[in-house]
Amino acid sequence: MCGIVGYIGHRPAVPLLLEGLSCLEYRGYDSAGIAFVQANKIHTVKAAGKLANLEEKVATQHSFNAMYGIGHTRWATHGKPTEENAHPHADNAQTLTIVHNGIIENYEQLRDKLKSKGYFFLSETDTEVFSNLLSFHYSEKKDILTALQCTMQEVEGAYAVVIIHKDYPDQIFAVRKSSPLILGVGQGEYFLASDIPAFLPYTRSAVFLNDGEIAKLSSNSWEVLSSTDLKAITKEITTITWDLQAAQKSGYKHFMLKEIYEQPQVIHNCLAGRISKDMKVLLPELDSLDIPKQIRIVACGTSYHAGLWGMHLIEKLCKIPVQVEIASEFRYREPLLPEGTVVFALSQSGETADTLAGLRLAKENNLQTIGLCNVVGSTLSREADRIVYTQAGPEMSVASTKAMCSQLVVLFLFALYYGQRKNTLSAKEVSDYITDLENIAQTLEEALPKFHADAKHFAKKYAHAKSCFYLGRGLSFPLALEGALKLKEISYIHAEGYAAGEMKHGPIALIDKDFPTFAIATQDSLFAKTKSNILEVQARNGKILALVNDKNDIDTEDTWLIPKAKDALSSFYILPALQFFAYEVADSLGKDVDQPRNLAKSVTVE
Ligand code: AGP
Repeated sequence: MCGIVGYIGHRPAVPLLLEGLSCLEYRGYDSAGIAFVQANKIHTVKAAGKLANLEEKVATQHSFNAMYGIGHTRWATHGKPTEENAHPHADNAQTLTIVHNGIIENYEQLRDKLKSKGYFFLSETDTEVFSNLLSFHYSEKKDILTALQCTMQEVEGAYAVVIIHKDYPDQIFAVRKSSPLILGVGQGEYFLASDIPAFLPYTRSAVFLNDGEIAKLSSNSWEVLSSTDLKAITKEITTITWDLQAAQKSGYKHFMLKEIYEQPQVIHNCLAGRISKDMKVLLPELDSLDIPKQIRIVACGTSYHAGLWGMHLIEKLCKIPVQVEIASEFRYREPLLPEGTVVFALSQSGETADTLAGLRLAKENNLQTIGLCNVVGSTLSREADRIVYTQAGPEMSVASTKAMCSQLVVLFLFALYYGQRKNTLSAKEVSDYITDLENIAQTLEEALPKFHADAKHFAKKYAHAKSCFYLGRGLSFPLALEGALKLKEISYIHAEGYAAGEMKHGPIALIDKDFPTFAIATQDSLFAKTKSNILEVQARNGKILALVNDKNDIDTEDTWLIPKAKDALSSFYILPALQFFAYEVADSLGKDVDQPRNLAKSVTVE
């Protein structure tokens, strides 16, 4: 996600645009830019890197007294975080410029169409396609609103776009579809922003734009029109009661909680642009690479758990042997890496030293490498032979939540993609899996509040445990490991994730009434085996909180009911439940959830 702002009113726009962007830096901060019209000319200032670089560049240039403008702080999805790719993006004719948050899924087809009409492109972004498509329609319609209508009919995907146009001085236009865009209504001044913090210091009156609506601002008025018939729509003004810091967390107490709730949108974002109209998985980044003879996944922490989960799916769906390695072990044990092995380096940050060392070891062995990463322009994205982005948006909480969800989605897509190429999956099987993934995002959105309430309830009972086990089998074993890691790293309670079948080989000696077990016992092919392991624990007076799909499935101290989903899809329910549980335990203990002691968001040292 990116941060976009617009301002028009009675004050110099540039300082307000920069201030608004600084309040949105949590949405993305790999490059930034502003634009405004002055003396009937569009002025644009952009800079790669943090917002401070843009502020420095603006400060060194001539003073600006423009009373309206737009701004953007970027979280790159298409194109590296360079100055060329930074927003705003103008059309070829320099008649308009835009800032954009979202993903234009059909930007390549539209870019080809525009190139055939003589348009050229200075950046790698999907945004520049939107600005030139709008310019093309404007050249035909000679009216910005009609041109916007035509553009919105052609563009597929998610977008919130703010536009200034030389032929419409003292006006700002905005449109949205699936990406947030909010209007701030001040006293003789108006704001547009991806999120409330950008204008909260100046007004608490907000108007939330809906999909398909067009906002039209001038220095003394605002209106919202339907893109269907360009008729004015009556909009409600909402009074915002949050303070600024709460607003950056969208009202959630911690970034971690906000990011757990973002997971349905993350699933949508991961799928965006990667599903063809005929329901095939598109991963063009991998098309030129031979099908791996075997895959070696190298990662750390939560990413390692995601890799273990991916191993099950890749082996099952596309019959490619997979080994998953803890990067800090892999890098020093002189592994045997047969020819044809492809090494997948999984890393949210793309900066984890051990994972990067594993990647470099693979390259020293002349193996092909694929990076799976959430940060465009990170070291991993620059050193891997190929990179596939998880498109989860910035993850601010040290404890990784939505990033793991995005890794599971992309690993699922890997399995389907190679299943397509190897014909181990029929077109219908792939289509059915894709439909299931698209549906789980919707049902998860509806289910999360209940998961959270249940987690809060159970946390009260288990928050004072000194140690606990997390048990799971099959795909739920990596989730058990992840649940234990989450609890450890934010509540500081000792927790161990274990393969349920392993308990009888020693660990069960630890069980007594003060050593609870969190058991993942959803209805999968291994449920009966898991149930017997749980009963073994129960027979030793162990208290068990069992995550189940039916209260009658097992009789334990506590059963936590979550919706049933088919096979691997149930992981998208189990994961947030584990995350909420750890969160509520830690919060009830008064821990610093977003910045736990001793930890860093990215471990860039050994
Ligand atoms: C996850 O909650 C932890 N913060 C940590 O284990 C993290 O997953 C690990 O350091 C790997 O980070 P990466 O994905 O950025 O490489």
